[in-house]
Amino acid sequence: MSMPDITPQLRLAVLTLFPEMFSAITDWGVTGRAFGSGLCQLHLQDPREEASDRHGTVDDRPYGGGPGMVMQAPILAAALAKARAAIGGDAKVVAMSPQGKPLDATLVRSLAGEGALVVIAGRYEGIDERFMTRHVDLEVSVGDYVVSGGELPAMILIDTLIRWLPGALGHEASAAEDSFSEGLLDCPHYTRPEIYEGLAVPSVLLTGHHGEIAGWRRAQALRRTLDRRPDLLTIDGLTDADQALLDKWDLLQE
Ligand SMILES: C[S@@+](CC[C@H](N)C(=O)[O-])C[C@H]1O[C@@H](n2cnc3c(N)ncnc32)[C@H](O)[C@@H]1O
Repeated sequence: MSMPDITPQLRLAVLTLFPEMFSAITDWGVTGRAFGSGLCQLHLQDPREEASDRHGTVDDRPYGGGPGMVMQAPILAAALAKARAAIGGDAKVVAMSPQGKPLDATLVRSLAGEGALVVIAGRYEGIDERFMTRHVDLEVSVGDYVVSGGELPAMILIDTLIRWLPGALGHEASAAEDSFSEGLLDCPHYTRPEIYEGLAVPSVLLTGHHGEIAGWRRAQALRRTLDRRPDLLTIDGLTDADQALLDKWDLLQE
């Protein structure tokens, strides 16, 4: 896609057999604006361009037999070289894989600071292990389940990376207030109407008292995290100030 004349904060390339799928992030919403404004650059590299036969073959049967096909190392290596040429040779190479490091907020923040990334989207049974050994710096998983290809996981990675780029969300919103950024789930949100099916907006949110509202929101975030994701937090691990906030808003006990 054509880029305005500003230096992108994040240069991305994706190796994918289905480049058209990425319009889901290039054409819409927060990510679409980041690409459109030049905050972030995306180069899509189709490994099929490297195929030497007229069918565009990029995969072959697995040595040792078994189901499925495996993406070939030389094909991917040639595509990677083109991707590096497009966004810069210093780029870190990340392969999307169910066997990779689980994607979480800590990993996102560290990758957002990389400056340049090549993301590999696998297909079929996966990628020849020798390509992984020679060329891949990090494998990243979006969860303990298998999807049919690396494109959706790659788009999840790219979307969440963009949220951390200064300016991507605009001044009215901040990734630092999202769930997980401070080790907590987000607080609940409300908008008009003030009463919906007999349910009223919590009265503190109507007071205009910013300190009280911030305290209530933090107490809600703490309670939610304790209830829904106890792996992130324990009541004993809370500061006295947070325990006092829960007490104040009557959220200390379940
Ligand atoms: C059908 S999967 C291959 C799964 C592989 N045979 C395995 O069991 O580890 C094809 C591609 O989808 C992507 N993929 C599937 N599940 C994923 C996940 N949970 N996280 C990241 N990528 C995933 C990877 O790029 C993978 O190469």
